[in-house]
Amino acid sequence: RLMVIGEAPGADEDRQGEPFVGRAGQLLNGMLEAIGLKREQVYIANIVKCRPPGNRNPQPEEITACTPYLERQIEILKPRAICTMGLFAAQFLLDSKAPIGRLRGRVFRYRGIPLVPTYHPAYLLRRPEEKAKAWQDLLQVARRLGHGAGR
Ligand code: URA
Repeated sequence: RLMVIGEAPGADEDRQGEPFVGRAGQLLNGMLEAIGLKREQVYIANIVKCRPPGNRNPQPEEITACTPYLERQIEILKPRAICTMGLFAAQFLLDSKAPIGRLRGRVFRYRGIPLVPTYHPAYLLRRPEEKAKAWQDLLQVARRLGHGAGR
């Protein structure tokens, strides 16, 4: 029912072939738990499907190469809500160039599906003082799912 969309695999994800299994993934698990969701109940994906060398930002042509897969994932899953994490997922799905600080804090629609942009957990690890805003975003996600902390 919920699809979380991040940026790209890092070194840990690359090794294990699974998204969000490193430190950012641990924080993501905690964020999901805070709204009463187990990781197993959520479909987690990335915008870019391969690890950008040295964890650099994904390049536009890498995003273009990978996003048809993501669009098909969304089509097949038909989630009740989407939560994008970080700049790249939000900008792609919202077809926007706005900074994440301007995109988060609102609920958008992607092909009719409520879409809540929030900060990337890796950013929250560096800037824990931003966690309160991410919490507000997660409450919006819970509300769209009609359960838990957001009711
Ligand atoms: N960051 C992401 O955006 N995705 C992952 O899978 C891991 C870290």
